[in-house]
Amino acid sequence: MSTNRTFTMIKPDAVANGHIGAIINDITAAGFKIVALKYTKLTEETAGKFYEVHSARPFYKDLVSFMSSGPIVAAILEKDNAIEDFRNLIGATNPADAAEGTIRNKYAKSIDANAVHGSDSDENAAIEGDFFFTAAERF
Ligand code: CMP
Repeated sequence: MSTNRTFTMIKPDAVANGHIGAIINDITAAGFKIVALKYTKLTEETAGKFYEVHSARPFYKDLVSFMSSGPIVAAILEKDNAIEDFRNLIGATNPADAAEGTIRNKYAKSIDANAVHGSDSDENAAIEGDFFFTAAERF
């Protein structure tokens, strides 16, 4: 059953390039409610844990290094059909394949520096949200 929630991060590239405000605006304009929001920075250790599911992939080391290279914005978002609608809003993982008008099409430069993360399932959205937020930090 759908939980109607997803988890996102605005990644270090989009933060460094000054896109926090524009991306949050795109997210809320698309009908997502912000349940939790945090400006923070991952360490190599916490980034490694967050992306542990990819630890066997060839890009894992670069991914961990990039995701701990600067501050990020983490958020839990709520909307009917949140997982699928958010993935449509952000576009394909590789910005070269991301549809016109999607967040990655507008703000991302490469598959590593792809501006935003979006959960791929209800189960992972819950795990990823729990990684960053306590119950008292959700509204
Ligand atoms: P994200 O949705 O945060 O989840 C894993 C990240 O790994 C992904 O976005 C990309 O930024 C990054 N990545 C780098 N290379 C690849 C690849 N070949 N396939 C999938 N993800 C990749």
